[in-house]
Amino acid sequence: MTTFETPLSVLDLLDKTEIRWLFGPEDRMPADYRGPHRLSHRGWLNFTERLERGEEISAILTALSGSRQVLDVGGGTGDLTRAIAAQVDQCTTVEPHRERVETLRTRSATIRALPGHAEALPFPDRSFDAVVATWVLPYVDDVARAVREMIRVCDETDAAARIVLIGGGRDNELVSLLNQVCVPLAGEPHDHQGFLLATAARVLAEAGFSRLAVWRTEAALRFPESALEERVVAAAGVLVDFWYEGHPRAADMKEALRPALYRHFAQRPHAIGDQGLVLVARPAARS
Ligand SMILES: C[S@@+](CC[C@H](N)C(=O)[O-])C[C@H]1O[C@@H](n2cnc3c(N)ncnc32)[C@H](O)[C@@H]1O
Repeated sequence: MTTFETPLSVLDLLDKTEIRWLFGPEDRMPADYRGPHRLSHRGWLNFTERLERGEEISAILTALSGSRQVLDVGGGTGDLTRAIAAQVDQCTTVEPHRERVETLRTRSATIRALPGHAEALPFPDRSFDAVVATWVLPYVDDVARAVREMIRVCDETDAAARIVLIGGGRDNELVSLLNQVCVPLAGEPHDHQGFLLATAARVLAEAGFSRLAVWRTEAALRFPESALEERVVAAAGVLVDFWYEGHPRAADMKEALRPALYRHFAQRPHAIGDQGLVLVARPAARS
């Protein structure tokens, strides 16, 4: 884990070699946000069926130890939300997708699930002692605004105050396949998860949430099929449906992924890594 306990100026913070390295890859750092990815509902469900993320969920629960009133922004289908709800006094989630809000409500009576967007959270200032957003920043319209909203609803006077984010690590294997194969066919700017986390770190530090801790987590999509060809077809389907379901070039993307997936499975036969970076921001220590 890399922890920076001193309130640093924003530029100092991003000048720290270690933290810049984590928010990489540096040579591809874009100047601006590429805009949100579309998330297909079916694609996301197929993706989660293969996702093993026990280590990631443990990391989030550790990051939230001592938290009582937690907001999970963009709870999705609630795998993580349920784990949080089991640990804290009250877990609330805000999710724009109507079907996912219903799923979240029916899956656990202890979760308060509301429709809404990260950029306009439907809560008064300082409503929570912790705010979490896992794998949500790539889908919002305005990253800085979403993070500022998380800061607004987090009670920075609470000793347990913290904002916890997860995005992709610089070595994320899924993002790398996306950028190598699908992004050029879609004619879109490349995905850069480190840019999103660096943007969030900047906004957090500017707002006084300048005690930052960063660490890596390992999650992966599992492909247990014994036949290599079956794995390649399954992986191409899951990845393209997740990122680009309904895209006019989706079939070309599935075809173009095949050689990259053969190469990938030669190295790692039954998994594609979804390496993450957990960022925990707490208010600067008071003197
Ligand atoms: C990849 S899923 C992650 C779900 C969940 N946090 C998890 O880690 O399992 C991204 C989620 O963010 C939600 N989302 C998209 N745009 C959003 C926004 N502007 N504000 C809040 N959530 C958003 C999506 O509906 C989706 O459920």
